[in-house]
Amino acid sequence: MTQLTSNSTEYGEGSATYEAVGSLQGLQKLVTEFYRVMHESPAYSDIRDMHPKSLELSIDKLVSFLSGWMGGEALYLKKYGGGGMPKVHMHLNIGTAERDMWLACMHEALSQQDYPKSLIDYLMVQFAFPAERIHQVSQSAHHDKN
Ligand code: HEM
Repeated sequence: MTQLTSNSTEYGEGSATYEAVGSLQGLQKLVTEFYRVMHESPAYSDIRDMHPKSLELSIDKLVSFLSGWMGGEALYLKKYGGGGMPKVHMHLNIGTAERDMWLACMHEALSQQDYPKSLIDYLMVQFAFPAERIHQVSQSAHHDKN
């Protein structure tokens, strides 16, 4: 029988995504690159400026969150507690432009890794969900953007 493997099913299964990104070490590399790109590229200065001056804690928080989100250990819950991602972004004014900047920055960081295109494509689809949700919740608190 022809083997029909869907990459998205593969990555979504258990800790498959977590392993595909290189586990904790891979996530640290990815997120460090994500924030390096955000910090250095003028295209992302609007969202960089929303962050604290030092990005050290932001890096650890995103690594910790992504670990659990991708099927690894729920480090964010353990270190920083629950509450949900939209809530921790509530104080920020995230319009469609800021949402798209975050996603574009993540795409750049993913492209710098030694990842197959199927993984990058899968992750970009998955990241779009929390990004959209964060944007929507942010806009219910701030009404001056789209
Ligand atoms: C939609 C566009 C997004 C923007 C503009 C954005 C921006 C930010 C900013 C400025 C902070 C720092 C807040 C502060 O220290 O006051 C932050 C924190 C964080 N963001 Fe986002 N973010 C976005 C989407 C996402 C997505 C999609 C995820 C997860 C997949 C995520 C995960 C996190 C985490 C884990 C933190 C740390 C939360 C904490 O303080 O404990 N963000 N984000």
